[in-house]
Amino acid sequence: MSLITTLTRNYLTRSFKPFIFTNAYDAVLDYENLQNLGLYIHIPFCKSICSFCPYCKELYTPEKCNTYIDYLIKEIQMVADGAGQGAQAENSAQAPQKGEDARKEVTSLYFGGGTPALAHNRLGEIIAAVNEHFIVTEGIGVELHPDNVTPEILASLKKAGVTKISIGIQSFQEKYQTVLGRKAVDAAQLKDVLGRVQFETVSFDFIFALPGQTYDELKSDIDMAFECGANHIAIYPFIDFSFATSGIPVMKKNEKRRLLDDITNYCLDRGFVRSSIWTFSKGENIRYSSMTRDNFLGFGCSATTLLKDSFKINTFSVDEYIKRIQAGSLPTALTIRFTLRQRMMYYLFWTAYSTQVDSAQFEQFFGVPLKKKYGFEARLAKFFGFVTEAGGIYKMTLKGAFFYHYYENYYTLSYIDKMWNCMRKTAFPKGLKL
Ligand SMILES: C[S@@+](CC[C@H](N)C(=O)[O-])C[C@H]1O[C@@H](n2cnc3c(N)ncnc32)[C@H](O)[C@@H]1O
Ligand code: SF4
Repeated sequence: MSLITTLTRNYLTRSFKPFIFTNAYDAVLDYENLQNLGLYIHIPFCKSICSFCPYCKELYTPEKCNTYIDYLIKEIQMVADGAGQGAQAENSAQAPQKGEDARKEVTSLYFGGGTPALAHNRLGEIIAAVNEHFIVTEGIGVELHPDNVTPEILASLKKAGVTKISIGIQSFQEKYQTVLGRKAVDAAQLKDVLGRVQFETVSFDFIFALPGQTYDELKSDIDMAFECGANHIAIYPFIDFSFATSGIPVMKKNEKRRLLDDITNYCLDRGFVRSSIWTFSKGENIRYSSMTRDNFLGFGCSATTLLKDSFKINTFSVDEYIKRIQAGSLPTALTIRFTLRQRMMYYLFWTAYSTQVDSAQFEQFFGVPLKKKYGFEARLAKFFGFVTEAGGIYKMTLKGAFFYHYYENYYTLSYIDKMWNCMRKTAFPKGLKL
């Protein structure tokens, strides 16, 4: 584990206590009174597997995907009925339908993967199961592979109630698709299909910091995205996960910083809104992000749930996921009970992902002023030019965004990489210390 992340964690949580995950888990999730709650559903199937990709996924077959979705719907019902263990779950089958008033308001519902658009003909059913228990106020998002961008699939998604789509372009330059082991994207065809079926948010994913990639190439990718009908883009730095087998070399730190600054300035000069550290949109209210929520419930393999004082992660194994739900138990693999400082650190880290932290919201969430808990750190961040402050809102500067990116890279490799690597090997580990 990197020394930087350990020292930062020790300092910010005022403790030498590591993050301790155990296999003991809650059968009933305490989310009823939480505000700003998001929902996430994972569909772990792809038509082909990319060697650079760390996410939980396996090869798609219609049979396996359909069986998985049958159990996914059961998991949603179990969580909503508070019936995540054995006999209680049997009762959930007879649980009365919640009336309109009893349903919990949630901000958004995102389907991620894998490639959830492969299950487009079943999304309506999943959304109906969600709607029985929740009221989604800010729309429904789904991830697509470029191959899924056909008039039929887009129409099917729209019919199911989807309002936001995100397409994994990665690059419009054929040479980088070759590096990534993917095939070239036909921009003209994409533009044609996207022109026929409209969505409130159309986001394109790109990967930057690939070997030899230049600012001019990225500029042309960004221009092409908006030209093809996107109104939102996500430009992710390439991350070399320890268990990925792509062998793609990592770009040097200075080169990466220059690229990140240049792309950011280019997008800001063109009047795009920076909606999070990696995303830019044409307009204030265009958003595609499942990460910047105070709390969220996750359903499906590898999905995570963040509550007031705990975080849990579901098993990565599709077969074991199904078996657990058959047995009437939740598919939770690991859970951490946060100390207050750990929860604060987690809150600040993910809120900063949106490039700003509002001290009033922090106080509303924790019942204690941000300045009282992290006043010194806030002053330090201002002193070093990482943030500016106005009216209690801390906004990340260009310099701050780079260092956040740099730290996030460490965090990803020190925590997420280690956790996912463990979860890929063992369906239900006994525990994990990070
Ligand atoms: C679930 S995929 C998107 C949908 C679809 N499966 C696809 O690949 O087109 C999520 C996104 O994560 C990003 N991604 C995957 N592996 C990455 C890596 N090693 N480094 C940075 N970004 C990565 C890609 O931009 C990808 O589009
Ligand atoms: S990048 Fe997308 S298509 Fe490729 S393996 Fe990952 S989730 Fe599947």
